[in-house]
Amino acid sequence: MSAAKKHATFLRIVVILITLLFSASSGFANPSSANQSTKTITIVYTGNLDGELEPCGCSEGGDKGGLKRRAQGIDELRAEDPDLFLISAGGLLISEIQEDKLKSEYILKGMTALDYDAIGVQWKDLAYGQDFLTKHKLPLVISNSSNSNFSQKIIFRKDNKEIAFFSWLNPSKNMQENLVFKNTEKLKQALAEAKNKKQLTTLATTYSLKSAQKKLPLENVDLLIIRSKYELYSEPQQLGNMLVIQPGSRGMRLGKLNFSVNTANKITYWQHKIIPLPPEVKDAPRMQAWYDEYNTKVKEDYQKATALRKALETGESIYAGADACQSCHKKQHDKWKDSRHAEAFYALQDAGKAFDPNCIGCHTVGFKKSGGFLNATLTGNLMHVQCENCHGAAKEHASSGGQTPVSNTDWPKEKMCGQCHVQKHSPDFVFEKYWPKIEHDK
Ligand code: HEC
Ligand code: HEC
Ligand code: HEC
Ligand code: HEC
Repeated sequence: MSAAKKHATFLRIVVILITLLFSASSGFANPSSANQSTKTITIVYTGNLDGELEPCGCSEGGDKGGLKRRAQGIDELRAEDPDLFLISAGGLLISEIQEDKLKSEYILKGMTALDYDAIGVQWKDLAYGQDFLTKHKLPLVISNSSNSNFSQKIIFRKDNKEIAFFSWLNPSKNMQENLVFKNTEKLKQALAEAKNKKQLTTLATTYSLKSAQKKLPLENVDLLIIRSKYELYSEPQQLGNMLVIQPGSRGMRLGKLNFSVNTANKITYWQHKIIPLPPEVKDAPRMQAWYDEYNTKVKEDYQKATALRKALETGESIYAGADACQSCHKKQHDKWKDSRHAEAFYALQDAGKAFDPNCIGCHTVGFKKSGGFLNATLTGNLMHVQCENCHGAAKEHASSGGQTPVSNTDWPKEKMCGQCHVQKHSPDFVFEKYWPKIEHDK
């Protein structure tokens, strides 16, 4: 064994020892009342999955988690305790790009099979729109939404135990019109009501503990789930009657909380365990069909994309892209490059809407037209508002050295702008004010 390898092995042993020492912890919320406990409750919780349907296995540290192992872990825990509650703080998906859509679809399908009791919603989960998320019939909760696609709370009972689950979607990032409201009064009332009914209350949020304390009514919260930490779970933190838990991200582990509550349903004793999902945890056999179907679809998608790319490369597109104009029209190109048109697609990406067909048309070249923009990877040269949005397709013009005129030669300027600068999207548009900002000759 080389010195480096020995060192690595030693480090690994240390890490395992540390994990063993710290993976289980416990505490008394109120030692004197510990003995009067009447019920014990088990909650298994997960934080952000962040689009990690499966571990990539590229490195030892990265080879953890994935939905197949998660299913196995949960099935084993359920075999021990069929009454456990299974909850997620949401954050299942990570991105809004076309390439991740299929994977996202299968993550939602896979989550359905795991049979969660309640799942919080984060903005990233909504990146492909509400229908994409809600059609899977997951028990989704957004407590500050009146949208009927989501529950404001979910109450679940097993045996004689009752838990009320709430989830708060950060309203300052309101990216979809009117989906959530800011006022916390309703949540406050609902929490008080749940507490009156002696339910154990759980609130999930993407806030940090500090922000949650500042922004949310926590008086009647028994269990607060704060923003996922990177990968590793934190130890629970006791604040008065409330237990604060912080799951890790990327779906690498499971958190398990056993606790006792007294007759007033206050937590009196708790025990916490973090359950890693390394390769030694086998894949749940019941997830195999789901996984095979996913891989078949991935392959189909890849083949479709390859065919498309081929078609583009063999020159079937009527669009050339701005780079192709630079050599003959340097002045116009320089001017355009400095304009906001040349960054219009980034604006969509920043808004988390780079995938929404309702937005792409005015922020790219030739969307929905043959040979036009498809997605950022396949047709990166057609992102943003470019020359050909105004002048029309100009591939032939470019390749003929200017002999063939561009498509929109006879268009008045106002007509060019009017394709996109419509009242709804550009209420301040006045041609005389806007044109000088982008005029090529100036
Ligand atoms: C190989 C050189 C060359 C390339 C590449 C080229 N052009 Fe031209 N372009 C010309 C020439 C030459 C003229 C002048 C033609 C004339 O005045 O009859 C011209 C004129 C134009 C005009 C004004 C006249 C008209 O046809 O309406 C526009 C607009 C234009 N080009 C846009 C583009 C765009 C957009 C691209 C890139 C997709 C592009 N050109 C690429 C050579 C080129
Ligand atoms: C009909 C064309 C059109 C559609 C559709 C459209 N936009 Fe735009 N968008 C524009 C125009 C034009 C502007 C520039 C407005 C201005 O400055 O007057 C703009 C500006 C923006 C900006 C501001 C950029 C900045 O730097 O301030 C964002 C963000 C944006 N759009 C996002 C979206 C999103 C998200 C959607 C889909 C829900 C969308 N757009 C759909 C035409 C459109
Ligand atoms: C937002 C719309 C718009 C975009 C984007 C745009 N143009 Fe133009 N362009 C115009 C208009 C309008 C005119 C006509 C100007 C006039 O008649 O005074 C024009 C004129 C021209 C001309 C004729 C010479 C001149 O400067 O007036 C050329 C060449 C040209 N554009 C090339 C380009 C190229 C190359 C790009 C991309 C790098 C581009 N344009 C991007 C709207 C646009
Ligand atoms: C294909 C759609 C499209 C066309 C055509 C178009 N624009 Fe735009 N325009 C946009 C978008 C989208 C933005 C916002 C880009 C951003 O900020 O990221 C924008 C932004 C602008 C801005 C910057 C606004 C500001 O406040 O600085 C000006 C100026 C502008 N356009 C002028 C024009 C004029 C003039 C025309 C016609 C000659 C035109 N545009 C044609 C889509 C278009």
